[in-house]
Amino acid sequence: MSIHTLLQTRRDGRTHSREEIEELVRGAVDGTIKDYQLSAWLMAAYLNPLSPEETALLTVAMANSGETLDLSSLPKPRLDKHSTGGVGDKTSIALLPILASCGVTIVKMSGRGLGITGGTIDKLSAIPGFRLDFSPDQLIEQAGRIGIALSGQTPLLAPADKVLYALRDATETVESIPLIVSSILSKKMAVGADTIVLDVKCGSGAFMKDIDDARRLAQELRRIASLVGLRSRIALSDMSVPLGKKVGNSLELQEAFDTLCGADTGRFRQLCIRLSGMALEACELVCSRSEGEKMALDAIESGKARQKAEQWIEAQGGNPAVVRNFALLPRSKYEKTIRSPHSGWIQSIDAQTIGEVAIDLGAGRKVKEDLLDLGAGLVFAVEPGDRIRQGEPLVTLYADSESKIAGVEERLIEAIRFSETPITPNPLLIDVI
Ligand code: URA
Repeated sequence: MSIHTLLQTRRDGRTHSREEIEELVRGAVDGTIKDYQLSAWLMAAYLNPLSPEETALLTVAMANSGETLDLSSLPKPRLDKHSTGGVGDKTSIALLPILASCGVTIVKMSGRGLGITGGTIDKLSAIPGFRLDFSPDQLIEQAGRIGIALSGQTPLLAPADKVLYALRDATETVESIPLIVSSILSKKMAVGADTIVLDVKCGSGAFMKDIDDARRLAQELRRIASLVGLRSRIALSDMSVPLGKKVGNSLELQEAFDTLCGADTGRFRQLCIRLSGMALEACELVCSRSEGEKMALDAIESGKARQKAEQWIEAQGGNPAVVRNFALLPRSKYEKTIRSPHSGWIQSIDAQTIGEVAIDLGAGRKVKEDLLDLGAGLVFAVEPGDRIRQGEPLVTLYADSESKIAGVEERLIEAIRFSETPITPNPLLIDVI
């Protein structure tokens, strides 16, 4: 079949056959379909969206476009967790040890951050010695031994997504729900999990700003996951404010470790417990989400989740003492505490602005070549709904120069809204689909 037929089918809004989709994916990977033809197909697919059946075919073809992991030797349930990303989102770092200590096997591939949403890999690379360069066999061996293995993204898995994603980025065709769904799910399929838990974040600090779009994405992820044989649970969670009180790589690790050690880390801890309950129910280890939440709480309170985190860090070459001794983590040279200009209740903290401020402090990248200051970021003393008095500490900033801190102060204060009366913050978990 010729690429011209493929392009005509998409341009005219007709339905692709399995062979056409497989041909498209093969051609994208081996280079026989040129970038300009793929770009034309992507724009046609943006304007004439793929049907659910076509999306499922594209997902499977992309998953099979490179190596796939065979997890069949590992104990069930075998789970993968994914978040669409947000400001302060360190959930995976706490969730993986909680779930593994409850008997779930997790093999996960994580990405680096670009833009305001930080990547799990960047956060973990703040642990001295932590390795992310494992072969598929090493990942499977480690997951069999301790229940968790995590690596950085490899071009060997779902290489078609890498080609198509780069072209989508360059052609304004990222925001197509069928293309997003096939991109996310093909990578999950290639990793070989049977159950996936996806956290679709919604709000100014997320990729999906609008609740209706986020809900549509979540519903489509659920539908296509089922068509390709993956068990799934999808959370819709709030990202209008940063998640937790700490933003920045080393700082977020501290918040995740504090949570695993049993500290009350507020909204972040609440989300970890809710998502754990959802994951344990999806894996059929418990009959309900509330039973799963109780199991997760027990794992934290008994110390099992912390011990699992220490075992995981040690297995990946890091020093497990970082879980309880933050002095072993990178710290920026300069810090400054800003005091509250008002008395009242914290109404909101704009996540997008905080993400931009964190980048300017050195915690994130503007372009993919940027080097990170792993100790940089912000620590809030309060969360939405908390009361504060004028002059009390509001937020502490960390950076490798005083000028970086001075450069963000005004924007930071403007991102925080105060109320003269008590307020109820937005619900953290908007829905489970
Ligand atoms: N994340 C992905 O992996 N793919 C997309 O298309 C969008 C977000």
